Amino acid sequence: MEEDEIEQNEATDEKEVSSDFEYKDIKDLPGVGSAIASKIRNAGYQDIIALATANPLTLVEVCDIGEPTARKIVAEAREASKMNFMSGLEFEDKRKSVQRISTGSEALNILLGGGVETQSITECYGEYGSGKSQIAFQLAVDVQLPLEKGGLEGHAIWIDTEGTFRPARIEQLAAVKGLDSKQALQNIKIGRAYSSDHQVLLVDKIPELINADPKIKLIVVDSMMALFRAEYVGRGTLADRQQKVNVVLHNLQRLADRFNVAVYITNQVMARPDVMFGDPTTAVGGHIIGHVATYRIYLRKGKKGSRVAKLVDSPSLPEGEASFEITSNGITDIEEEKKK
Ligand code: GTP
Ligand code: MG
Repeated sequence: MEEDEIEQNEATDEKEVSSDFEYKDIKDLPGVGSAIASKIRNAGYQDIIALATANPLTLVEVCDIGEPTARKIVAEAREASKMNFMSGLEFEDKRKSVQRISTGSEALNILLGGGVETQSITECYGEYGSGKSQIAFQLAVDVQLPLEKGGLEGHAIWIDTEGTFRPARIEQLAAVKGLDSKQALQNIKIGRAYSSDHQVLLVDKIPELINADPKIKLIVVDSMMALFRAEYVGRGTLADRQQKVNVVLHNLQRLADRFNVAVYITNQVMARPDVMFGDPTTAVGGHIIGHVATYRIYLRKGKKGSRVAKLVDSPSLPEGEASFEITSNGITDIEEEKKK
């Protein structure tokens, strides 16, 4: 039956179809019938952009389809996604709707051009205890604040892959900011991911959550790579893993764009004993996250218990550093007398 679908679709004139139609959905692509479309979706590719960036050989494996079909589908998705250009004016209009969430530290906000942005992925990487999760807690509270206090009067989604979400910390930070602690917790939807497949599924659920609660303005994934790293040790190839991570990241970027939400993801760094010069740590996701994330913050421990954030590879902001503190009150600027 699937073979029939493919044949029928292949019988149509590819070029004509490609140039005249804007495909909105995976199932609209030539060569994709409803059975194949559902296999593709079940494998975690939710839209044409995700498919356009897919590796055909991975599709063969995860969707159980033939290689020529997979190659054709990916080629069509790439062709189709080229049509999604917008004019510079449209782009400018879209940028105008970008909003920012305060991190709690003015210095860190300034480094990020005003705070963590909607329509973008902000990746924070650093070693154990550097404060990646603490920034996430702060953002999940601060997003709920009124605009004049650095928030968006919004709600948050939190995908917890390590079991490190702490309700008590949210309550504590909320109280400091004058919010109702229980209400602040109520405004955060937590999804605990138990495997990388589960993580993929939870991300796929997000559009449903946002449709049900349009106040959602922040998506946290803490941490992005932990499950992938744990599961792919000794099984599968690095390329397979990266491919799957890439799909999740592109889905997150699509969510950020489509719903005007901020995406904040954390990523551990491993010591690299083989690196003799330069930075001895490297983000676990390798370079794949760097290519998708718009803002990358490298966090390290600084003097006297402070933290230092470095903005890396930003397309629009100068590279720089900001120091802040993690206290019982949350992420804060370093007090003037301590700077001396
Ligand atoms: P991993 O998830 O292990 O990779 O680390 P991380 O980067 O997520 O670290 P996290 O954000 O959990 O930061 C942990 C650090 O934050 C601790 O070592 C403390 O210094 C600080 N911290 C966490 N909670 C509190 C708190 O309630 N009060 C104070 N003063 N500091 C805290
Ligand atoms: Mg953490």
